[in-house]
Amino acid sequence: MTNVNQQELEKLFEIARQVAENSYAPYSGFRVGAALRLTNGETVTGTNVENVSYGLTICAERAAVARAVAQFGPKMRIAATAVTNLNGKASPPCGACRQVLAEFMAPDGPVVFPAADGVRTMALSELLPLGTEMKLK
Ligand code: THU
Repeated sequence: MTNVNQQELEKLFEIARQVAENSYAPYSGFRVGAALRLTNGETVTGTNVENVSYGLTICAERAAVARAVAQFGPKMRIAATAVTNLNGKASPPCGACRQVLAEFMAPDGPVVFPAADGVRTMALSELLPLGTEMKLK
């Protein structure tokens, strides 16, 4: 699936768990953390940031992507993504986050997340079929 090995994916998942401690989730209480391993070897994290106007909430994954672009520029690419929560629940990336990840991550890139049956790793293309087919030009 990728050149990021299992041990690195497990480390990335642990980093996502740690950053979830910083989540701002006073409304849902659902504390999420995400960690991106970039193709340049760097790791960038994010948490969900909720808002009293619920729809303005940003997910952990998209917060991490925005940070990665700000830090490393528009050519940054994501080799692997991990997301988890401190609530002991399943939290595969939401649809919006899958689409945003697809902008910067190869379809065969691994996404690690807690599923109903335990921690799973799936290729982005399994989570978002045809995710890179939309072309504006
Ligand atoms: N959330 C994320 O941060 N990432 C996901 O993949 C799923 C949902 C956040 C948004 C909101 O703050 C809380 O989890 C409940 O939906």
